Amino acid sequence: MCPAIAGSAPVGVMDSGVGGLTVLKHLTRQLPHEHFIYFADSAYAPYGNQSAVKIQQRCFTLADILVAQGAKALVVACNTATAAAISPLREHFPLPIIGMEPAVKPAAAASKNNVIGVLATTGTLQSAQFAALLEHYGNGVQVVTQACVGLVERIEQGLLDHPETIGLLQTYCQPLIAAGADTIVLGCTHYPFVRHHIQQIVGPGVTLIDTGSAVAKRLQQVLAEKGLLNNANDQNQLQFLTSGAEETQGIMRQLWKTL
Ligand code: DGL
Repeated sequence: MCPAIAGSAPVGVMDSGVGGLTVLKHLTRQLPHEHFIYFADSAYAPYGNQSAVKIQQRCFTLADILVAQGAKALVVACNTATAAAISPLREHFPLPIIGMEPAVKPAAAASKNNVIGVLATTGTLQSAQFAALLEHYGNGVQVVTQACVGLVERIEQGLLDHPETIGLLQTYCQPLIAAGADTIVLGCTHYPFVRHHIQQIVGPGVTLIDTGSAVAKRLQQVLAEKGLLNNANDQNQLQFLTSGAEETQGIMRQLWKTL
């Protein structure tokens, strides 16, 4: 393949819905000359309570769509989908695939009192990948996990400031506050949309960590290694696709502006 053509091809970014937009924002900042096609699988969200097999099927469908659009690399901008599907995706698709996992390692390093909290989906918290993360990086640290059931659905509807959303956040942050966590991992890409509410609930002394910027740096590194960076002086072009209802496009644009 001619590197000049490959370099100008877009990067495909996928999530169960709008959550991966919080990652896409970091990607566009880190890689201002790259083009991106974002696919929100909103008709099938949330992934967090679905079987790994079902999530794998959806990820293969999304990857097929993005590859057919000419993607030179894929970012699975979803912790739940990464846990369920990153290995089969990498085995099947011959292009660089970047995944993401909850930031347990940086949180353990940042914590002063060695108590960290992890907010994530049920699927992520129950995955073998998460168990392996805890085994590698959770030594000597108390890790308090909390599945945020129902939160993704509200963010998918754009209800960031709705009293019910804030009520859920208060409920889910409570065990982490009670345990004295001084560092909290936002282990689902939807949650940075409500970061300000979480910070207000847990207080200014608690550090919130997500993996968006680390994923962006990793993508840059991998594209550079493979000779796939866009060397033209282009500005980001973004294309938003969704399996969701017509109003999802509007919600995506409204949420994008909040980032
Ligand atoms: N945004 C996703 C994540 O990072 C999944 C949300 C869901 O569909 O449950 O885990």
